[in-house]
This record gives sequence, structure tokens and C-alpha cells, in this order.
Amino acid sequence: MLTVDNIRANLCAKYKALPIVVYDTIDSTNTQAKLSSIDQGIFVAKHQTAGRGRQGKSFYSPDSTGLYMSVVLPITPMEAYEFTLTAAAAVAAARAIENVCNISVQIKWVNDLYLHGKKVAGILTEADIDRVIVGIGINISTESFPADIPLAGSLDAENISKSKLAASFAENLFDITSSKSREFMSEYRSRSMLLGKEISFEKDGNAFTANALRIEDNGELTVLSNGIELTLHSGEVQIIL
Ligand code: BTN
Repeated sequence: MLTVDNIRANLCAKYKALPIVVYDTIDSTNTQAKLSSIDQGIFVAKHQTAGRGRQGKSFYSPDSTGLYMSVVLPITPMEAYEFTLTAAAAVAAARAIENVCNISVQIKWVNDLYLHGKKVAGILTEADIDRVIVGIGINISTESFPADIPLAGSLDAENISKSKLAASFAENLFDITSSKSREFMSEYRSRSMLLGKEISFEKDGNAFTANALRIEDNGELTVLSNGIELTLHSGEVQIIL
């Protein structure tokens, strides 16, 4: 059962006293985290009525078949940027899914998690004045998705503890960010599903195809397009199958 007590029980001693909220139904855990005044803590929902994704998209959040949560981190937006927090969050999520579900997922730059070619989790990082909110939605057992998200998929994990998964994601994220070590970037690269692949993307209104060459220490993606190296800072890329 997804409860405050079960999440707390699965956190290590140094994080056990942090504020944790679990909602049956809420608009968006990121919105609630932003409305709160805590500088570190965990907001979890069984169902979201207005889950938000990147680029103004919505995030499909049906009841009880996914984990929808937001982690408030006591770091400034500038620290988050310099640390490439988006990449850190993707690694924290991949580790949590591996630990709790025994499933190895890949990271699609910047921070989507994929399994068997389908997006099974997405991350939305939002900055506040002196804190940062990392929201994640993980499709655990959702069987069908709206027609407008054909690439969405699910872990199809049975009998997993959502409380353990929530605790593991938060703990991995707290550990990575508080360590200040950027060793996680090598794991980010080794879990990448883009490197070495042909991709397509848009830049400055133009369509490109390219080979994904490397992910830089600052999280940028370097690609080779028509013999020229280009650097992508953010945005969506597609793998050409
Ligand atoms: C994306 O794939 O574009 C990011 C999706 C992020 C969804 C999560 S679910 C929990 C948290 N609350 C939200 O409203 N969004 C994030």
C-alpha cells in the first residue's frame, strides 16, 4: 500500500524525518509541492487530475496504475543547472526501478525513461526561488494510453511496492545531489538509448538528421549532422528506426 508510513519505513535514517504527503487524488504533485513552503520533502499521489509534463503537455496519470511524485530539493536553480540535475534525476529513477522492480530501463536524452522502445517514465523539473522540484511519473501497470501518446508504455511490473519505489527514487536523488559528485554522468551515458544512433530533431525551425555522438559533462548532446558537429542543449529528439 502506498502510504506515508510505508514510504518512511523504506527511507534510510537520515531522511526519515522529512515531510511526506500522500494524496489519493490531487491535481498535480508538482503544483502542491510548489504551493508548500518546505525546502525538502516528498509529495506522492495515487491519481492526478491535472498531471503536467514538459513543454506544456499533460501527463496521463490514471488511478493506482502509476507512481506520481515530486521531490523538493534544498538547492537553488543555479546549483541545479550547474549540477545537470535533470540527468541526475534520470539516473536516480533508473536506479530505483532497477532496485525495486528488477527492470533495467534506458534513458532517452534528456530525462525520459524507456523500456522496449516505449516511454515508461517522464521527469519534470521546476525551479523555485531557492529550491527545486523534481516530479516523476512512472507507468507501472497502466494497460492502455490515450491515442495521442502512442509511444507511452508501462513497466508491466506486478506486485511491486509503490512505497518502496517512491522511497528509493527520493533517496537516490537526495544522495546524488548531496554528494556533489558528478560520477553519475558515467551511468547516465551507459544507460543512454541515443548514443551511436541515427536521430532526427528540429533546431532553429530546421529539421535535421544526425548521429548521436556523445553526452558532454554539462549534459549537452553532441551530434554529427552532414559532417558538422552540432550541440543540442535541450529539446526533443527522435530515434530513426
Ligand atoms: C514529461 O514526461 O513530460 C514529464 C512528466 C512528469 C510527470 C510527473 S507526475 C508527478 C509530477 N506532477 C506533475 O504534474 N508532473 C510530474
